[in-house]
Amino acid sequence: MMRTKLVAGNWKMHGSLAANLGLLHAVREGAGGGAEVALCVPYPYLAQAQAVLNGSHVAWGAQDVSEHEQGAWTGEVSAAMLADFACSYVLVGHSERRSFFGDTDAVVAAKFVAAQKAGLVPILCVGESLAEREAGITGDVVTRQIDAVLAKGGIAGFARAIVAYEPVWAIGTGRTASPEQAQEVHALIRSRFAREDADVAGGLRILYGGSVKAGNAAELFGRPDIDGGLIGGASLVADDFLAICAAAA
Ligand code: 13P
Repeated sequence: MMRTKLVAGNWKMHGSLAANLGLLHAVREGAGGGAEVALCVPYPYLAQAQAVLNGSHVAWGAQDVSEHEQGAWTGEVSAAMLADFACSYVLVGHSERRSFFGDTDAVVAAKFVAAQKAGLVPILCVGESLAEREAGITGDVVTRQIDAVLAKGGIAGFARAIVAYEPVWAIGTGRTASPEQAQEVHALIRSRFAREDADVAGGLRILYGGSVKAGNAAELFGRPDIDGGLIGGASLVADDFLAICAAAA
């Protein structure tokens, strides 16, 4: 099945109104056809992203969402609020949320479902730590993370979702999974979904994230089950990010 590649930037907690402006305009002007492009920005900059990117090839989204619909949840941001700013995407289960903010598999599953209920496309992030890889349990970890979401949302939800494989040991470390290592896990992820529904599995886009750079993107994106990338550090530099987008086109 043909799957259009997606390159999504994750700015993490970087930016300022002044600094964002040039970056947003450069991505807007430089992102051509071929691959889909999106930027996941900090909440306060969603309005700015919407203002600059509206009507362009570039979509925008958030980096997290509340599992709750509304109410007394101080500091939280609901999926409906993200939809108000015309977000297309929202990350759920990024390893930094899982490691530092207590997002359990169950919380991630609830966020996934909340996002879809508001019409957003969740990008479900999964991946193993270095210790888990060295213990030989990468497949078990990734499968457990996926199964929690399948149990809550069912396979049908993955007809309008994206999965991102981000090995924790490759995030922000300059240490990329080799194309072979990434492809192996991507294939395992797709086969997990194929056990539920072959059509959904065949159409599912599985992104790779973890130290993707202009120099390694084409080789990664050339593997059969790697459908694009989730880009951290390199999404903060327009030329680097656009080179990665070009490698996916
Ligand atoms: P880096 O590209 O900076 O390694 O970050 C990857 C990531 O966590 C994207 O969500």
